Order: sequence, then C-alpha cells, then structure tokens
Amino acid sequence: MVSSRTDLRLGVIGLGARHQLASLAHNPGNGSRIVAVCDPITARRESARKTFGNDLVMASNHRDLLNIRLDGVFIITPDATHAELAIDFLQSGIAVYIEKPLAITTDEADRVLQTAQSSGTPLYVGHNMRYMPFTRLMRDVISKGDIGEVKSIWCRHFVGHGGDYYFKDWHAERSKVTSLLLQKGAHDIDIIHWLAGGYTNRLSAFGNLSVYGQIEDRSDRSSQVMQDWFSESNWPPLAQQGLNPLIDVEDLSVVNLQLDNNIIATYQQCHFTPDYWRNYTVIGTEGRLENFGDDKDATIKVWNRRSNYRAEGDKELAVSEESGTHGGSDRRIITEFLDFLRGGSRTETSPVAARYAVATGVAATESLRAGGTVVTVPHLAPELNSYFECIQKTDQIKDRFKRNS
Ligand SMILES: NC(=O)c1ccc[n+]([C@@H]2O[C@H](COP(=O)([O-])OP(=O)(O)OC[C@H]3O[C@@H](n4cnc5c(N)ncnc54)[C@H](O)[C@@H]3O)[C@@H](O)[C@H]2O)c1
Repeated sequence: MVSSRTDLRLGVIGLGARHQLASLAHNPGNGSRIVAVCDPITARRESARKTFGNDLVMASNHRDLLNIRLDGVFIITPDATHAELAIDFLQSGIAVYIEKPLAITTDEADRVLQTAQSSGTPLYVGHNMRYMPFTRLMRDVISKGDIGEVKSIWCRHFVGHGGDYYFKDWHAERSKVTSLLLQKGAHDIDIIHWLAGGYTNRLSAFGNLSVYGQIEDRSDRSSQVMQDWFSESNWPPLAQQGLNPLIDVEDLSVVNLQLDNNIIATYQQCHFTPDYWRNYTVIGTEGRLENFGDDKDATIKVWNRRSNYRAEGDKELAVSEESGTHGGSDRRIITEFLDFLRGGSRTETSPVAARYAVATGVAATESLRAGGTVVTVPHLAPELNSYFECIQKTDQIKDRFKRNS
C-alpha cells in the first residue's frame, strides 16, 4: 500500500453534473487525493468540502490554483472553457486530465497539444468509451481477424435522453459547443477511428433542428445540474418543458466519413428516440459484427456465413458486466490516468486521436451548415504527431513525478 505521504495531489476544475468522476481519484492514503477544487458557484465548492475534507483548497477562479503544489487537475467544465483552462495549467507544469471533447474548435485543440509539447507537461483526454466493455469486445473481434479486413463502420446513435441531457442548458448553444455532432459525436467519431485504425480525411454531413426548436416553454436552469431535471417521464419529446432559452444546435444529424485508410464510415445521431443506446456494425472482407445493447446484457453478434436474414449470429459473445458508471469505464480511465501520472505508461487514449475527433466534428458541422458540402479535415502538424507518438515510449513523464516516489 502506498502511504499518504506519496499521494498524488489533484485538483478538480468544475463541480457540475460530471464531477463525480473525480471522486474516483480520491483515495487518501492509497495513492491519490483531491486537495483543491474550483467552481464559480459557492454552494458547489461547499458541497465538495463535505466530500473531500475540511483542508480542501477552494477557488472561484482557476488562476488561484496555478501556483499551489498540484500533480494534476481534472478539467470537467463546459466544453468552451476546456482549451483556455488546459493551456493555463499545462503552462504552469500541472498535468491535465481534460474531459471530452478536447476543445470546440480545431485551432484550440491544436493549441492545447502545442502547449503540452512546449511545456513538456502530461496531457490526457478522457475518452472513456475506449474503456467500455462493448467497444473493447468489438475491437478484440476485429483484431482476431474474425471479420477479415475492416472496410466499413456504421454507427447509429439513439440519444433518447437528448432532450434532458442537451437541450436544457449550455449544450444547446453553438457558441458553447459548436454542435452536438461534435459535443456528443466526439465519443463515437473517436471509437470509429479507433476501430478502423485511421482518421477521417473527407466528409459530408446533413442535419437540422427537427423537434426541440418547436417547444416554446423555456427557462434558465444555470443554478441546477442535469440530475435535477432528468426524468424518463419527460415524454414524448414535444412534451418537454423548460428548455434552454437559446437553442441553435441540431437535434438530428448524419455524417459520411472517408478515412485515410479508405475505410468508409457513417455516424447518425438523433436526440428524440425513445431509447438511449448506440448500435455499431463493422463490415469486413470475411464477415460482419453488430452490438445489441451497449451496457448490461449486451451481446456482440458475428456473422461470417452467407445467407438471407438470420437473427442468430454465427458467434454470439456476451459483453462483460462491470460495476460503476458508464459500464465501469470511468473507474478504468481514472486508473489509467493515475498510472500515467506515476509511470508514464502507454495509454489507451491519445491526445492526437482526441484532436482528430474534434477536427472531424468541426468539419462535419461546417459541412452540415453548408448543406452537405464535402469538407477536408485538416491534418495535425507532423511535429506534434511525432511528439505524442514518442512521448509514450520515453521516461519523460516518469521523471516529472519523481518527487512523489
Ligand atoms: N466522458 C463522459 O462520459 C462525459 C459525461 C458527461 C459530461 N462529460 C463532459 O464533462 C464536462 C462537464 O459537463 P457537466 O455535465 O458536468 O457540465 P455542468 O454544466 O453540469 O457543470 C460544469 C461546471 O463547471 C463550472 N464552471 C464553468 N466555468 C468554469 C470555469 N471557468 N472554472 C471552473 N469551473 C467552471 C460550472 O459552474 C459547473 O459547476 C463537459 O465537457 C462534458 O462534455 C463527459
């Protein structure tokens, strides 16, 4: 057991709906503890003191934490603030765990990566879907060659809780998210890239605000968090009440993607379905896989014999059930981040991949708002690409945290 003297000292920036993620890193005496928090809302800081202890350092402005001794911070704030906050902490030599999406523009995402490189400070982006049991099982099936060489990936995303999750606060505003194709889609664009082993080169998208724009009942909920208004009885979608005063993002979007390894993919997102889950199919030269369910009781079916419709797969693989939020992926990703801070081990997530998820989401939004024009995704500067490829192979990060050993 690691003694309390060696605990990593961590901060949490943003104490809203998602901040419970950081609680998974609060293990005083067992390697890591939350020692500081920042949020402009006083009640949230006071509540954090109850969770993390009376000696917690509390700030309403993140700059007040730049000069205290911290080994890392969790940035769990609205997306539009990610880049500025990350750059300030990285420049101060404080390692950063940043929630997805990395940023809301490609320029901002690139600036975060540049700052991590120039300061030599560890950067980690919280793409927790790479740790979900169903995505890992799909990846295993692909890497074993069970469906041959992958040629196409299609993801249908039924965002059944969309009205509650994305249309009652800042998520509904372009200026704060760019689009939901980026905000929510960043998860799946990243998984498509990860399963395909490539990044999007060119794309074309369509979408509109089909349903939620019609609802006139609006309210400012900035003093609440999503858990305060979430209810499955808010149904059907047009019966929703108290939507954000401004809604200028789309609730329905589809994008076709051409990857740099010639794999063709498609991602479809709808925020007013009755059910909330994702359905992927991956088609290869020797078969096809598809997930049914993406959490408890999920199955991956694999077909590799020719036939007409068959409900049963040639193989049916049960997705393992793990306890904890997001199918256990939150616990796993926090464990990986803490290991990364301690030893600089290879990570399943990657700042470069996170940047391509942003660049693809931004390009898709541009295409969608221009009526489906084909848009090319800008490449990351080669020196940044090489830096992040190399960094996991060196002891650079390990050296930064010698003081904790
Ligand atoms: N990976 C996942 O599965 C997952 C799930 C949910 C949310 N998220 C991400 O987590 C982030 C936060 O989402 P949320 O739902 O908790 O939002 P939220 O609105 O509930 O909470 C955000 C908090 O940040 C605070 N804040 C705003 N600006 C700040 C600043 N400059 N400095 C410090 N605090 C500031 C707000 O007061 C609020 O308490 C988003 O980027 C979202 O995409 C990820």
